[in-house]
Amino acid sequence: MSDTSPLEARRRPAGAPLVIEEAAPTLADGSGRPAGAPLVIEEAAPTLADGSGRMFDRIAPRYDLLNRILSLGLDHGWRKKLVRALAPAAAGPLLDVATGTADVALALARAYETARVVGVDTSTGMLAVGRDKLRDAGLEERIGLLPADAQALPFEDASFAAATIAFGIRNVPDRARGLAEMCRVTKRGGPVVVLELGEPRAGVLAPFARAHLHAVVPRVGAWLSGADEYRYLEASVARFPAPEEFASQMRAAGIAIERVESLGFGAAHLYVGRARA
Ligand SMILES: C[S@@+](CC[C@H](N)C(=O)[O-])C[C@H]1O[C@@H](n2cnc3c(N)ncnc32)[C@H](O)[C@@H]1O
Repeated sequence: MSDTSPLEARRRPAGAPLVIEEAAPTLADGSGRPAGAPLVIEEAAPTLADGSGRMFDRIAPRYDLLNRILSLGLDHGWRKKLVRALAPAAAGPLLDVATGTADVALALARAYETARVVGVDTSTGMLAVGRDKLRDAGLEERIGLLPADAQALPFEDASFAAATIAFGIRNVPDRARGLAEMCRVTKRGGPVVVLELGEPRAGVLAPFARAHLHAVVPRVGAWLSGADEYRYLEASVARFPAPEEFASQMRAAGIAIERVESLGFGAAHLYVGRARA
């Protein structure tokens, strides 16, 4: 992040609060904080989990291309649906967890033009690719990218108007904790929206979607990336709970479910909820 970014995580001693300055008074958050006053977000001790972050560091340079190819170009439209699901709570600030190369963060900033957006991820390699994209888009001033673990988000309670996670909750080791953290940092009643892949189970085209996941994704992924990480993708998708079960896990984390939408013949689901805590 550049030194001039208003969403910058400044170099600071460990444990010191992370100050996110707000340019325009866009926070209609009822926090009592005067318009223009800095949004102070306490940062917990850095708890970067290695495993999946390291794995994505290796994939990072090829991640966007592989994503487009392996999702048959559908991922773009799915992210758009996730972004639309936030309206009208999108005055911001908005949080995108496991933001990777920042596709969702960018889409949020473009869709909600006054909102500040923060993206967090454990992979510094993915965030580096994301920063290049922010620069190319001229959106560095409105989007901040920070290394942080979904299981210990370095923000105060109710810091954000809404929180999203796309294709990331599957990778978070303690899923319940990750969901509870998203709920905690979102203002009461604010959207908490999850987009995630899953084993296609229902519908006449589900067998084709399953064949794509189990036969095409690992082979093409390994071939294009020269690595075995896309076997992990297949296995983690197959292990992910069925939509009803995952929706229950969201409820247990304090998120009231509004709707669950099946996408791509059940290859993905959009879970739209609201923070209750
Ligand atoms: C499949 S990518 C999704 C990236 C992006 N959200 C997108 O829509 O393309 C999964 C991301 O989750 C991140 N991740 C894995 N475990 C994480 C954790 N515990 N906390 C935060 N991010 C995590 C990975 O580094 C990776 O960037």
